[in-house]
Amino acid sequence: MRLHGRTAVVTGGTRGLGRDVALALAGAGATVVVAAREVPDDPGDGLVALKADVTAPDSVAALMSTVHERYGGPHIVVANAGVSRPGPISALSVEHWAEVVDTNLHGVFHTVRAALPYVRRAPGGRVITMSSLLGSRAMAGAAAYCASKAAVEAFTAVAALELAAEGVTVNCVAPGYIDSGMGRALIGHEVLWPKLAPSLASGRPGTGEEVAGAVLFLASPESSYVNGQVLHVDGGVR
Ligand SMILES: NC(=O)c1ccc[n+]([C@@H]2O[C@H](COP(=O)([O-])OP(=O)(O)OC[C@H]3O[C@@H](n4cnc5c(N)ncnc54)[C@H](OP(=O)(O)O)[C@@H]3O)[C@@H](O)[C@H]2O)c1
Repeated sequence: MRLHGRTAVVTGGTRGLGRDVALALAGAGATVVVAAREVPDDPGDGLVALKADVTAPDSVAALMSTVHERYGGPHIVVANAGVSRPGPISALSVEHWAEVVDTNLHGVFHTVRAALPYVRRAPGGRVITMSSLLGSRAMAGAAAYCASKAAVEAFTAVAALELAAEGVTVNCVAPGYIDSGMGRALIGHEVLWPKLAPSLASGRPGTGEEVAGAVLFLASPESSYVNGQVLHVDGGVR
């Protein structure tokens, strides 16, 4: 129970990878609040759910303030909420481009900025952002997603520099092809998956639990001297 007494917020923690992460943090003893636009009354497994839209700065600020009043902290923030709107640039609508950048990049900025007053007060505060293999690898049809995730990695590096002196670490997790959340559609894709599968050195997609294990490490005291890193969790991709 190495996270006992710590409060964690996981944006996009209601399903997919975010939920896997939330369960891992809760399993280590943290009080975990999952936040999304649609939340169940009872998310189960001891989790707490609060409504928030990461594209709206006021909404995320209200989330952090409510968490602080009710549960203390937050000491750990996982900026995980994300969307993907695939399509070639010529067919990518301005609305879809804006939605992806608003959620994946601006959403991370709003979340981290709103969390700072609380996270920097906690000894050993932790911020973890969520990128992707596609943050550093181009994939045709994923321009908005790739661009937003590359920017998240750059943002993470800057935030780590700014907060290091206050004992807060800021790191990024970059999952590869994962059999959870939005990754399932890719793994089930009849045309794309046979082309991508041979690039997996480990010969299989990852699990949500394997990504959650990396986040748990970065949220834990054991990672206190790891800062500004992008931790690739992709089983080795060629
Ligand atoms: N699964 C993979 O294979 C994979 C691989 C690499 C990276 N990632 C990254 O991992 C993260 C989680 O992905 P996932 O696969 O778990 O996706 P998912 O299953 O589609 O879940 C996305 C979560 O984000 C929330 N969300 C979306 N827009 C939001 C907003 N504006 N405000 C608040 N919450 C919002 C969703 O809830 P609501 O819709 O109710 O708001 C949901 O809880 C993303 O950043 C994704 O890019 C995933």
